[in-house]
Amino acid sequence: MASFSFASAAPFLLLSILVTLFSPSNGGSIVVYWGQNGGEGTLASTCATGKYAIVNIAFLSVFGNGQTPQLNLAGHCNPSNSTNNCTSLSSDILSCQSQNIKVLLSIGGGVGSYGLSSIADAINVSNYLWNNFLGGKSSSRPLGSAVLDGIDFDIEKGSSQYYSILATSLRARSSWRSKVYLSAAPQCPFPDAHLGPALRLGLFDYVWVQFYNNPSCEYPSFPRNRWGNGNRFFVSWTRWTFGIPAFRIFLGLPASPAAASSGFIPNTTLINNVLPSLKAYPQYGGIMLWNKYYDDQSGYSSSIKNYV
Ligand SMILES: *[C@@H]1O[C@H](CO)[C@@H](O)[C@H](O)[C@H]1NC(C)=O
Ligand SMILES: *[C@@H]1O[C@H](CO)[C@@H](O)[C@H](O)[C@H]1NC(C)=O
Ligand SMILES: *[C@@H]1O[C@H](CO)[C@@H](O)[C@H](O)[C@H]1NC(C)=O
Ligand SMILES: *[C@@H]1O[C@H](CO)[C@@H](O)[C@H](O)[C@H]1NC(C)=O
Repeated sequence: MASFSFASAAPFLLLSILVTLFSPSNGGSIVVYWGQNGGEGTLASTCATGKYAIVNIAFLSVFGNGQTPQLNLAGHCNPSNSTNNCTSLSSDILSCQSQNIKVLLSIGGGVGSYGLSSIADAINVSNYLWNNFLGGKSSSRPLGSAVLDGIDFDIEKGSSQYYSILATSLRARSSWRSKVYLSAAPQCPFPDAHLGPALRLGLFDYVWVQFYNNPSCEYPSFPRNRWGNGNRFFVSWTRWTFGIPAFRIFLGLPASPAAASSGFIPNTTLINNVLPSLKAYPQYGGIMLWNKYYDDQSGYSSSIKNYV
């Protein structure tokens, strides 16, 4: 990773200043990942907190390469257990949706076995997702009959190949009657190693960039000043907002210092030093948090909610 130089950052800084001066401030919402810790409460109780506008169910951790896809929801349920499978989540999903909260299925994640081997494989996975989680039909829907609002791409391993085909194929299922939302969770180094090509196509409604576990572009713990170290973060944010066509870009953060190895931003720093700049961008959508469990522990979303 090249070190920060003012010359290369200057165009972004200028853009950032112009945006800040001429845009009205936008309000945003909070998105959370749920599913990777049995101690984080049910999906229904997550939605009932009223804190989140979108919940990503994490993860479908096995798919592609002709594998039988598998859901992993940690201690919440086990799709292959006949008494404690995940079909009971349908009522939770409906309860979330009745409160106008979108529920997406996140595919990928940090562990698991996934990847797409060909165009045919990508289309097979797309058909699987449509029939088992979206508006299609299958005799063995892992989350039962509820129709999810869309698919979140959290691709952190393997190659970047064919994710554009998967996204295009899912997008083609979307209609005015039932929209299929697509979101993505790339890492902040731009362009993303796994989703870069797919993101360029402008198929994603929401992109929550992981500004954590990535010291080269996350907000540093000890910024020297607005134009020093901390600036790498603002340069990166500007690259994302102007670099890819997406309806909304979100700032992805750990919900507590324990939730990631780096990148946590204390609530007052976020409120005073970060959000005012970000909210000036028309693409700003809000904050994505990893994850519900850590948010419960820290109370982070409660402390920032009124400022997002
Ligand atoms: C297509 O996907 C299904 C899962 O829906 C899987 O069982 C099957 O092996 C896949 N077929 C190919 C040719 O990859
Ligand atoms: C899932 O669990 C429900 C009861 O909780 C049961 O009726 C259903 O048969 C189970 N499905 C599978 C595929 O095990
Ligand atoms: C299935 O779930 C039940 C209830 O949680 C549990 O008691 C049982 O051990 C599980 N069975 C398997 C094979 O994991
Ligand atoms: C910020 O977090 C601290 C704990 O880390 C908490 O004591 C404080 O009340 C929070 N600030 C706001 C504005 O909620």
